[in-house]
Amino acid sequence: MSEPTIESILQEKRLFPPTPEFSQNAQIQSLEDYQQLYDKAKADPEKFWADLAETQLHWFQKWDTVLDWKPPFAKWFDGGKMNISYNCLDRHLTTWRRNKAALIWEGEPGDSRTFTYAQLHREVCQFANVLKQLGVKKGDVVGIYMPMIPEAAIAMLACARIGAPHSVVFGGFSAEALRDRLIDGEAKLVITADGGWRKDAIVPLKAQVDKALSNNSVPSVTNVLVVKRTQQEIQMEPGRDHWWHDLQQGISADCPAEPMDSEDMLFILYTSGSTGKPKGVVHTTAGYNLYTHMTLQWAFDLKDTDVYWCTADVGWITGHSYIVYGPLSNGATTLMYEGAPRASNPGAFWDVIEKHGVNIFYTAPTAIRAFIKMGEQHPKTRNLSSLRLLGTVGEPINPEAWMWYHRVIGGEKCPIVDTWWQTETAGFMITPLPGAIPTKPGSATLPFPGIIADIVDLEGNTVPDNEGGYLVVRHPWPGMMRTVYGDPDRFRRTYWEHIPPQDGKYVYFAGDGARKDEDGYFWVMGRVDDVINVAGHRLGTMEIESALVSHPAVAEAAVVGKPDEMKGEEVFAFVTLEGDHTPSEELVKELKKHVVQEIGAIARPGEIRFTDALPKTRSGKIMRRLLRNLAAGQEVAGDTSTLEDMGVLDKLREGV
Ligand code: PRX
Repeated sequence: MSEPTIESILQEKRLFPPTPEFSQNAQIQSLEDYQQLYDKAKADPEKFWADLAETQLHWFQKWDTVLDWKPPFAKWFDGGKMNISYNCLDRHLTTWRRNKAALIWEGEPGDSRTFTYAQLHREVCQFANVLKQLGVKKGDVVGIYMPMIPEAAIAMLACARIGAPHSVVFGGFSAEALRDRLIDGEAKLVITADGGWRKDAIVPLKAQVDKALSNNSVPSVTNVLVVKRTQQEIQMEPGRDHWWHDLQQGISADCPAEPMDSEDMLFILYTSGSTGKPKGVVHTTAGYNLYTHMTLQWAFDLKDTDVYWCTADVGWITGHSYIVYGPLSNGATTLMYEGAPRASNPGAFWDVIEKHGVNIFYTAPTAIRAFIKMGEQHPKTRNLSSLRLLGTVGEPINPEAWMWYHRVIGGEKCPIVDTWWQTETAGFMITPLPGAIPTKPGSATLPFPGIIADIVDLEGNTVPDNEGGYLVVRHPWPGMMRTVYGDPDRFRRTYWEHIPPQDGKYVYFAGDGARKDEDGYFWVMGRVDDVINVAGHRLGTMEIESALVSHPAVAEAAVVGKPDEMKGEEVFAFVTLEGDHTPSEELVKELKKHVVQEIGAIARPGEIRFTDALPKTRSGKIMRRLLRNLAAGQEVAGDTSTLEDMGVLDKLREGV
């Protein structure tokens, strides 16, 4: 199995048109229909989005302006009032969906729960009242650090209901990472669980929260709410900590949704960039609601009878947009699973599909590669005939993995919807519409209607077909991030000035390299900045470097991605040592552990190489390109004339 390279992708000529049966039943049924929709949206994006906002969502009050664009700051549907929790719950209660399954949950040790829309609404209202009782007000940020249990979704919807922006922190992040995020968002309250199940082990979430809050290091947090999940002993600090089930007991289920301004902040979600600390990506209410709603509906051709399963964690944007908000806003049945692919239970995912009759399955290439490794006997021995559409996200999918997914999981009848998007974009940006757009293995195909995507050079000029360049978006869209929390300047610099505006026209820089072929299909190659993608998780090399340097033995560190068959990329660290510290196997182990402690297991370096010096230019910049070549075991390519000390290269090859 190999990662896509320009060469392999240029040779990829296979084309998979939708089957006639699929197209006939799809919302958008042909390439011509897609083209018409696309052209209509391009000609008048504001009208296009306004028409959808009007027909697809419930409003307490209609907006005054569709788009107020003062680059790079956008307001969508300004003057309007709505509530996404209302759109996800209340509006379905007056229809037949009232008693439809909203959320099916499959727990890791085999327990399972189902909530109808009416039941989910009741839980959310009660929990919203719990939050209110603890003094949470509109505008207060609430931290959520949870396992994959229904209470995570309930907590998010309850926050949205009362207008308290949530800041969900992935349960695999360390106490330190959690602390940084709670401090940055000035969270008032944290919602967690005693523990969570992860691959047959318990993650001690509450103990991590205690550590994050120790020594009053996050003074803004005054309350912690704890769901009982794994039942082990934990410390409960009197006055600060409360059991969810105690407070939910006997509380009123009457909690009308707060009418929110379209542009009120819905949530903060942290993501890695090439410099500095993780950025708090800010999404607001109405645009996010509309964008996740429409993208899911069209790209996954969502039907009311579907059981839809997205395998992401709610700690990432995929979980926000496509486990919770997008599906529920559409009145769909969304399935949430606490488990992860693992060798100890290689048939677990296929059991879930068979048990619940899943129709739409959405996962990541890294998971597909893990399934391939575990062997096709596992899916082959389960009945997967309910599946009608497969999705993928998170990293470029290698054509081999695509073909396996198509053949073994999709039985050669399910369209594969490769969705390119980011935390910043809220929802799918480049994606097939499955009844209309023929797919090519490894390509996310064409832009979603309303999205003007392009491939440009560093000056912003469109590059010719089949030439690599930078992926950009030329027009604002409702789901676009609004700012970096507390740092609008960073928002401007990172996303909108990287490619200089031409004639006052700003373009959104995604940070990905890509190519467009002669059919207009986009082929995303991966990040062009110092961000690496490990098993579909986005990590800033600088964050890992700072974690390493915070260890007393480390003088300097440079981290790069090394191509990896399973994970796409792996963390590879070059380290120089402080004073009389000497390289050893023990130190390697200790440094890996240190990174896990500082960031979380997802950032654990696969390899650490000690060296006397790092390759630098005369102006002192680390030459990462060389390090990437070395990590990949390749000859150092390109110009090395700016390297200050040529001898460094030989030493690096060997390590010390
Ligand atoms: O490099 C792209 C890659 O994931 C990055 C976004 O990461 P994150 O914000 O964590 O969101 C992941 C889930 C949306 C992108 O800049 N990426 C995401 N989807 C794809 C992809 N690369 C290639 N193909 C995709 N379908």
